[in-house]
Amino acid sequence: MEHFLSIKDLSQEQFLSLITLAKDVKANPKNYSQALAGKSIVTLYEKQSLRTRVTFDIGIAKLGGHSVYLDQNNGALGKRESVSDFAKNISCWADGIVARTFSHQTCEELAQAGSVPVVNSLSDMYHPCQGLADFLSIAEKFDDLSQVKVAYIGDGNNVTHSLMFAAAVCGSDMVVVCPQGCFPDGQVVLEAQAIAQAHGGSLTLSMDPQAAKNADAIYTDTWISMGDDISYDDIKGKFAPYQVNQAMMNELNIGYFMHCQPAHIDQEVTQEVFDGKQSLVLRQAENRMHAQNAVLITLLGE
Ligand code: CP
Ligand code: NVA
Repeated sequence: MEHFLSIKDLSQEQFLSLITLAKDVKANPKNYSQALAGKSIVTLYEKQSLRTRVTFDIGIAKLGGHSVYLDQNNGALGKRESVSDFAKNISCWADGIVARTFSHQTCEELAQAGSVPVVNSLSDMYHPCQGLADFLSIAEKFDDLSQVKVAYIGDGNNVTHSLMFAAAVCGSDMVVVCPQGCFPDGQVVLEAQAIAQAHGGSLTLSMDPQAAKNADAIYTDTWISMGDDISYDDIKGKFAPYQVNQAMMNELNIGYFMHCQPAHIDQEVTQEVFDGKQSLVLRQAENRMHAQNAVLITLLGE
């Protein structure tokens, strides 16, 4: 593994090894306290963050490494200087780059122009750190990921794309339920379906929430992602039938509720479900750190 830009690039063995390593880092943190000793990582943000910023900062410190936070106030990426010059300069000093960018192409350019590993911490296309942490969370509840049925409901977005690749590489069954016009990217769907088929899993799309029936976990995310240029008033009617509430959880016989956060209460999910007994949201948030640390150890550890 040279970079971590999309789960699409990983074999089943690589993905499951990351899950196994993340579980071990979580269970035995002291064994990894020097895994990144002497290593410096630049964490670069074009967009806002709570979980990603804090989990990388604290996670890198727990591995004995050092992180440098860069936002857009001291020279915006591609404006003060080119993305390629940014990557080449950072590569002179740092051992790795973690980047949250608007365009996925920016992540790819950083990886191409620089000479150090790049981790995508969310782009418009993918959120692979989230997908890995989510499947770690599912793996803590179900021994065999190939037997799991995951449903995603809401807006087909970056988080959906990474979950689709994670489910596909594990051979899980996944159903994605969206209103008309809000489905995930067609090319990503085809790629994920091919990977799912190769691993004995499946990926189906539907506009009908009933397609999520009997899912082991139902996942939703914001109806409006960072960088989307739409107003809530314009879409709320279309998305309302896709809200995850307790009536839906009961009627569809769902096991667990999942959300990457930040959540928008009474939009994509109700407070009752978000805080309820079936909710895995804080486990997912905690697991962001362990999953990312497994990625950093794999890319940069001795
Ligand atoms: N889930 C997630 O990436 O959260 P942040 O946007 O707060 O980092
Ligand atoms: N889809 C959301 C995820 C936030 C973590 C966004 O891109 O804004």
